Amino acid sequence: MKEIISLEDIKHFDSRSEQFQPLEWYKSMLESGSIRYNENSDTWNAFKYDVVKTVLSDYEHFSSEGDRTTISVKFSEDDKQMNSKVNFLKMDPPNNRKGRSLLASAFTPRSLENWKPRINQIAENLIIQIEKGKTEDIVAALANPMPAMVMSDLLGIPKPDVIKFKKWVDILFLPYDKSKKDVIDNQKNQAIKEFFTYLQPVIIEKRQQLQDDIISDLIRAEVDGERLTDFEIIEMTMAILGAGVETTSHMISTSFYALLYDDKELFSELKAHPEYIDWTVEEMLRYRFHMSRRDRTVKKDNNLLGVDLKKGDVVVAWMSAANMDEEMFEEPFQLNIHRKNNKKHLTFGNGPHFCLGAPLARLELKLILENLVKHFTKIESVESFELESNLTDSATGQTLTALPLKLY
Ligand code: HEM
Repeated sequence: MKEIISLEDIKHFDSRSEQFQPLEWYKSMLESGSIRYNENSDTWNAFKYDVVKTVLSDYEHFSSEGDRTTISVKFSEDDKQMNSKVNFLKMDPPNNRKGRSLLASAFTPRSLENWKPRINQIAENLIIQIEKGKTEDIVAALANPMPAMVMSDLLGIPKPDVIKFKKWVDILFLPYDKSKKDVIDNQKNQAIKEFFTYLQPVIIEKRQQLQDDIISDLIRAEVDGERLTDFEIIEMTMAILGAGVETTSHMISTSFYALLYDDKELFSELKAHPEYIDWTVEEMLRYRFHMSRRDRTVKKDNNLLGVDLKKGDVVVAWMSAANMDEEMFEEPFQLNIHRKNNKKHLTFGNGPHFCLGAPLARLELKLILENLVKHFTKIESVESFELESNLTDSATGQTLTALPLKLY
């Protein structure tokens, strides 16, 4: 099992809210140079845009393999035993090619275009249930349920099982917490067992009758004459859920936070100009996705980042900080949907591991915003809302547990 590099060892924040929007810290880190050594965690930390991009993409020098990680979700009981085709997230090219290609075959632009009406239906159904003029918690009403509903629909999970499925997903990806590690590990192991037992017959059935869903695509997928076994398909499913559910929920809830608190005119602007929605999606990912970071292990001694790095050293690339680099983005600490280059954010990574689900995540937020301005004329915050008590630890940093608002 890999050792988790905890955020607390790198940077102690005095409050959850400070961690939720660590703009001051990013500012000072960006000003203090490209890369800094942190003794507590024994890691090098990269903040500047160009440096972060190099760390993520130059796999000859910065490897995704290694014994330490910033990712607190685990896809299997033991990463090392996990099948090589599925564990591609932690492999460098060319070894990652087969696994990545097999999964990529389910995420083609064509499949996304086919899925669009289904995803739109899910977004619209959730949004029209929101009562006009009444205080609603958008986390419970939309940000939490939508990504799990989309994933279970796209995977092809039978409808009556969706609630059961969501419960497993919630447990499987509970955030890493040192103080409750044993309890959480037990819960997760139990959920993994149940999930495997449940999914195997579903896959066997789909093999008899392929459908238009990701599990069927994974059954069809073939690279160099190799296909996935039932077990590997279940592992792939876990990998997709681990990578795609919590992250997307976080993106949705923080985007609403931005509409309510960062730019109160934005909703009206989007209502008048829905054609700005694509830019808005990118700016939300740049400006509001705050704890995006990935680790790499130095493969051979080098000085590429301006310091002497030795083989085995760990470098943490802070994509969220890079998204605030003023050498890349003009007035980076402002939310500005009109900036021309906001698609250049690094929230989905860069290079050989660039997020396979990025088009899906983007589409989910786009469809939410489109339906929002279609069905409502105004959005309002709730005065009694207090940020600090509505945050909790999660794999993506501090996540909103509730966000009350009113829609008219
Ligand atoms: C990889 C972020 C949504 C599937 C990644 C990476 C990042 C990322 C930063 C690169 C990891 C690295 O370089 O080590 C995000 C964010 C999301 C999101 C911010 C939502 C806002 C999704 C969704 C899916 C998904 C919806 C699938 C349904 C994957 C997979 C990989 C990945 C499979 C591994 C790719 C590889 O190693 O080749 N994601 N992701 N992600 N993501 Fe996402």
